[in-house]
Amino acid sequence: MRRLALLGLLLLGCDGDPVVDAGAPDAGGADAGDAAIELDAGQPPPFVEDDRWHRQAVFYELWVRSFQDSDGDGIGDLAGLTSRLDYLADLGITGIWLMPIFPSPLADSGYDVADYVDVHPDYGTLADFDALTEAAHARGLRIYLDLVFNHTSRAHAWFEESRTDPTGPRSDWFVWSDTEGLGCEGASGPFGETRWTFDDVRGQFYFHQFYPAQPDLNFDQPAMRTALLDVARFWLDRGTDGFRLDVPYRYDEDLPVCVHRPGTFEFLRSLRAVTDERDAAMVGEILASPEELAPYLADDVLQMGFLLAESALFSVAANSENASGLGRAFDELVAATPTGGAFCPVLGNHDLPRATENVSDDPGALRVMAGTLLTLPGVPFVYYGEELGMRAGAGVIVDGRDSARTPMQWDATPTAGFTTGAPFLAVAPEHATRNVEVEQADPASLLSHYRRLIALRNATPALRTGTYQRLASARGQLVYWRRHPDGDRLVVASYARAATDVAVSVPWASAEDEITDAPVGAVTDGVFRGSVPAQTVWVLREP
Ligand code: NOJ
Repeated sequence: MRRLALLGLLLLGCDGDPVVDAGAPDAGGADAGDAAIELDAGQPPPFVEDDRWHRQAVFYELWVRSFQDSDGDGIGDLAGLTSRLDYLADLGITGIWLMPIFPSPLADSGYDVADYVDVHPDYGTLADFDALTEAAHARGLRIYLDLVFNHTSRAHAWFEESRTDPTGPRSDWFVWSDTEGLGCEGASGPFGETRWTFDDVRGQFYFHQFYPAQPDLNFDQPAMRTALLDVARFWLDRGTDGFRLDVPYRYDEDLPVCVHRPGTFEFLRSLRAVTDERDAAMVGEILASPEELAPYLADDVLQMGFLLAESALFSVAANSENASGLGRAFDELVAATPTGGAFCPVLGNHDLPRATENVSDDPGALRVMAGTLLTLPGVPFVYYGEELGMRAGAGVIVDGRDSARTPMQWDATPTAGFTTGAPFLAVAPEHATRNVEVEQADPASLLSHYRRLIALRNATPALRTGTYQRLASARGQLVYWRRHPDGDRLVVASYARAATDVAVSVPWASAEDEITDAPVGAVTDGVFRGSVPAQTVWVLREP
């Protein structure tokens, strides 16, 4: 139940706002039903070159605690991650987002930060972080840290000072009240509906949008905002390449309004100025509709924003064999996103159930979802273990989200090669067959499929920054052009569990698929016709 409630939170937002619909039939005639028709794309949208590094990236999200233990204490650490960088480089990953690595009581797996400018002792030292950064850069990998600025841990020195010294300089760095004040509009979900907790030292209530162990920072305080900018500078000075921002749309509040406030944008602009000095980029966790996301992706705010609610649309398409909702969502996103801004599609993350669980572990569904994720516009993020088809674990430390945070599976040994000790969280079922060693040796594995797709994306400008134009197609199919001056690609993704026909007008004499290396139909009189096998993605080009 708890797990369902958490999922509900993520899909509805803390505010209970449904963000996108899932897969109702297209209203505007974009869904051509089940018959193959000849699809003529018409004029492509204008192409705008964007050669900034992050626009070319394929990111990988991981939890250091779960990735690789180097010292046998059962807990992953920075040295362990450093020892596994070759795996990520070989997979074709170019950017790594580390979930919070800072000192923390771990009341929310590190999203309760006790010190913004140090490393959790479980993970190593600042010197280990420097070594990781250097080793990553040597392999062409960039490191993004997770900045949790909406709130701290109750154990943070700023909070301690604020609660013990009500007349001191940090007295108002948190949000205090003599009475339990208003909560956030529409708040619900696992973090509780009451967002005020009594502190018996200060004798007042403090406000928190998440667990009581995570008091909200007060963005009305200029000195506090300056201190946060200094945190960003500290990590940039150490060679950090960018940041993932935890719930940045919730920074400033005027209760009961907690989201998308002017004060939030003002602070994000100042953070952007700091990161621009070092050519770093930021990706925001913004649970919002395409229209609400757009202002965050303006030129002077964030470079990237996640698509979280939309992640469910991939599995909805797979389960229902109907990709209309997914296609329509991307049409809306492309239309709403300002030039230069990038949205970031995901199939899962540390808050969501494993992709395998969303599709009842259907291997074909996992393949077509990966094929779509890595050929759609935007900047894709792969969640660690997704490329192996990792299952949900049963252990719970904080809450049900731990099911998707189990140790990375490297080999078939009882602890999956993660540790020589006892893993802090039990490894997930089926790790003896779903692991890097086994899947690397199998060209037909999900891991090999991911590697092929990522290599193709890395080698193909059209798949990274090409324009996007979706064509009407059968219910189970997504068919779209990705066009780029260096060469166009036509992507045909079939979510149907049986072969379906496709016919598309192409300016080509013939066509070949870059993923399957199998014959895929023919071009006759300017029309490509083929029969797409079940749950398959083709990336077609003119040979
Ligand atoms: C969003 C993070 O993704 C989630 O894991 C965390 O619990 C909340 N923000 C609070 O920091």
